[in-house]
Amino acid sequence: MARFAHIVGWGMSVPKRVMTNNDWAQLVETSDEWVRSRTGIGERRIAGEGETTFTLALEAAHEALDVARLSPAQLDLIIIATLTPEHTFPATACLVQDALGAVNAGAFDLSAGCSGFIYALTMAADSIRAGSSQHVLVIGAETLSRITDWKDRATCVLFGDGAGAVVVSGSEMPGGILSSVLGSDGSGGDYLILPAGGSKLPPSHETIDQGLHYIRMNGREVFRFATRTMDKAARHACEKAHVSLDDIDMFVPHQANMRIIQAAARSLKLNEERVFSNLEHYGNTSAASIPIALYEAIQAGRIHPNDHLVLVGFGAGLTWGAAVIQWGVPLPVTPTAWWLRIFYWLYYRWARARSWSARQRRRVEDWLPVNGNGHDRNGHRRNGTSPRPHPDHTAPVLPEREAAPEEKPEPVAEADGQKN
Ligand code: ACO
Repeated sequence: MARFAHIVGWGMSVPKRVMTNNDWAQLVETSDEWVRSRTGIGERRIAGEGETTFTLALEAAHEALDVARLSPAQLDLIIIATLTPEHTFPATACLVQDALGAVNAGAFDLSAGCSGFIYALTMAADSIRAGSSQHVLVIGAETLSRITDWKDRATCVLFGDGAGAVVVSGSEMPGGILSSVLGSDGSGGDYLILPAGGSKLPPSHETIDQGLHYIRMNGREVFRFATRTMDKAARHACEKAHVSLDDIDMFVPHQANMRIIQAAARSLKLNEERVFSNLEHYGNTSAASIPIALYEAIQAGRIHPNDHLVLVGFGAGLTWGAAVIQWGVPLPVTPTAWWLRIFYWLYYRWARARSWSARQRRRVEDWLPVNGNGHDRNGHRRNGTSPRPHPDHTAPVLPEREAAPEEKPEPVAEADGQKN
């Protein structure tokens, strides 16, 4: 039986603080007129104290699960597309998994710049179609304000923070994510890069003094790449899905620059009603921009059952991606019943308590001697010195391989005229 991957839940979260172009004009040499006319951006959200990629992702995930009417325990996989993870590791997806109490889910982060959400959505759909997963939570979440140089007017006015999430579920009902295309061209990697903080340039006083921990962008080249790519990727995804351009009901592009969106819409011959943009309010939120736009398009009543949506992204890498979706879920969604709200409330509190008790258990285990031999579970003596020479008895081990019988050398056939 064919399996189809449908978006069945959606959520978003943005920081409380709104920063307008005029606010930026007080910090750098710019103006509302310049930013609006060159980009279409009017304001963006900036993460404040206590707001991080994880907190925004978690809030968006709560809402998406609520809309999907799914318990976190039903999730098989959580993928977070982000350029600004909570830490380099562990993955932000694992933090969300723990906070949700998604006890049956695998979790990983994915780095594909602003195309990250399309990449993650594709991984989710493929995993569902292959039968490895039934329910996948896909999140695009960013706090770009934390890696932006607030003195660089060429980049600081462009970016914003936020998160968008969708739940993708397997179904026998035809439709859902019909096709997707992914592409990359690493030769353009330098056009959009965070130079330091990785293995090439680990963080140091020098990298900080030179501002190498901030986004570096060649805006003109990225602009050129984006206008070339959006149109091609959208056409390619439509061809794969056997959907003609005339049948596109809603185009949900990555929200980076209004001129890029308009150029793509023009070449795809899409009128304004068939293009969604909320760039004016959020700026470029990178991997979060498409799921946030999709969320707002749904909330605005611009998406209907059986509509064909085309999502297109481009970004650092360089990467690009597009997906065609035939919308399958009835809209609008009925409000969550009171008992379900209580269920979620209790579940998330249970998840928090579970996480806390797991941490405490590990702490206690670290102190308790294992097998009475004076070593903790990490192989250290209770006094914190030498590692234990033997393997941890609590971990499963493979039976030792039997020693291979001594091999006797094959008698070498005497070659003509040659002897050993
Ligand atoms: N305010 C006023 N002037 C500015 C500002 C500003 N905020 N920023 C740049 N300028 C100046 C420049 O210094 C330059 O001055 P100069 O001519 O004296 O040197 C002038 O404006 C024009 O600069 P351009 O780079 O030619 O401006 P352009 O029209 O190309 O617009 C922009 C710049 C908005 C960055 C555009 O190139 C763009 O949107 N590029 C795509 C960026 C993008 O999408 N990035 C995200 C990719 S997604 C991801 O993976 C994160």
